[in-house]
Amino acid sequence: MRAHPAGPRHADVLPHDPIYAPPADLARLEPAIWPQGAARNADGELTLAGTAISQLVDTHSTPLVVLDEQDFRDRARDYAQAFDGADVFYAGKAFLCKAVARWVAQEGLHLDVCTGGELAVALAAGFDPSRLALHGNNKSVAELRQALEVGVGRIVIDSMNELDRLDALCAEMGVTAHVLIRITVGVEAHTHEFIATAHEDQKFGFSLANGAADAAIARAVNSAHLHLLGVHSHIGSQIFDTAGFEVSAHRMVQLLAQVAKDHQIELEELDLGGGLGIAYVAGDKPAQVRDIAESLRLIVRRECELAGIAVPRLSVEPGRALIGPAGVTLYEVGTVKPVELGNGMTRTYVSVDGGISDNIRTALYDADYTCIVANRVSQAPAVLSRVVGKHCESGDVVVKDVWLPGDVRPGDVLAVAATGAYCRSMASNYNHVPRPAVVAIKDGHSQVVVRRETLDDLLRLDVG
Ligand code: LLP
Repeated sequence: MRAHPAGPRHADVLPHDPIYAPPADLARLEPAIWPQGAARNADGELTLAGTAISQLVDTHSTPLVVLDEQDFRDRARDYAQAFDGADVFYAGKAFLCKAVARWVAQEGLHLDVCTGGELAVALAAGFDPSRLALHGNNKSVAELRQALEVGVGRIVIDSMNELDRLDALCAEMGVTAHVLIRITVGVEAHTHEFIATAHEDQKFGFSLANGAADAAIARAVNSAHLHLLGVHSHIGSQIFDTAGFEVSAHRMVQLLAQVAKDHQIELEELDLGGGLGIAYVAGDKPAQVRDIAESLRLIVRRECELAGIAVPRLSVEPGRALIGPAGVTLYEVGTVKPVELGNGMTRTYVSVDGGISDNIRTALYDADYTCIVANRVSQAPAVLSRVVGKHCESGDVVVKDVWLPGDVRPGDVLAVAATGAYCRSMASNYNHVPRPAVVAIKDGHSQVVVRRETLDDLLRLDVG
């Protein structure tokens, strides 16, 4: 419920009491939240994959997105292992650049792109187009044409208009498109409303409940230009409760059985999408990929046996679960302001040199993050803090509630954990703030993979 037409942050409400007490050790790096390469050196400074953050800041400046390459690769391997025999597509929307596309290829994964822009990055990285899936609820004719021209392996169809468009394009170009139909399975995933995608009242896919899915499948089956590989479902994002995935798998296999009955074809592929949640703050307990892989495989095998159809090739599309924990954002503290809240509480507002332009998730989804003072260890008592950006609005919050040492001061470096997914990829130039650089770090070496935007970059677009 919104407390104000412009959103809850505009409401005249006093902040609630902090829901947790200060941690015993403010310098602790919770392993579930920080990348595997995160540690403190002898001086108490944060190091990432063997490099002290002061070195990163001196070389690359702030705000800076740092990706722990080995962390990403190991998570990709875990996924591939857990889903052995299935196709794992990294969902590039979480964060994509040429280097990451190459890591994905080297780890033997496929790649999901959902716009011509993401497709361009994949192609520029030399990614094998036959291992790409093209998503999107409103792909343009130009995007579809390019996908066909370069030989994208799978196109996931989201509407009847798109079916018609693709059919006509294939006829014109004399090619066959390999397609999946995106299905809305009617599962309500327990996540933020804006990122749950499989309930009925939203824009994606064809509904199982109202016959739209059957109609789309019949249309694709009867097309001379489309080869229907299978069906696809994605029920939402940042999901901890695996029941939603399981219900979705049940319903999708029932659909495959229905298709076998109606059309006498056994579809080859079942794509169950992405959505596995990650830990952002202490106490977050995401499901383990091994467990979810096992339970999904079991359900699909059992349901297929019951229905008397062959087990399809499974695919999944993790985004956040691969890149989210690998990313840390470094900011420099500019100002520190204790604010009396009028209820006996004081909140210390710590302003950093980025904000809503490089991490919109806190403002958009009320997302939780945690951070530490990264350049030193302090013995000062903890103060309840809010990390805010430099933008001209009070909703410009990076970390809503965090305990920081009471001597946090201008010039300190803050490291915000678990910012690899949907932060830099959703970045904007609000207030004409240039977007941060992205640095990949491995074995003590850092390498810029996306350079920092400059004011010249911004002014070049402004043609007067
Ligand atoms: N497959 C499809 C078809 C998707 O739409 C998505 C995400 C994924 C896979 C990957 O989901 P993941 O494993 O990353 O949860 N901006 C939001 C998340 C939007 C997700 C959009 N689709 C956020 O910052 O939380």
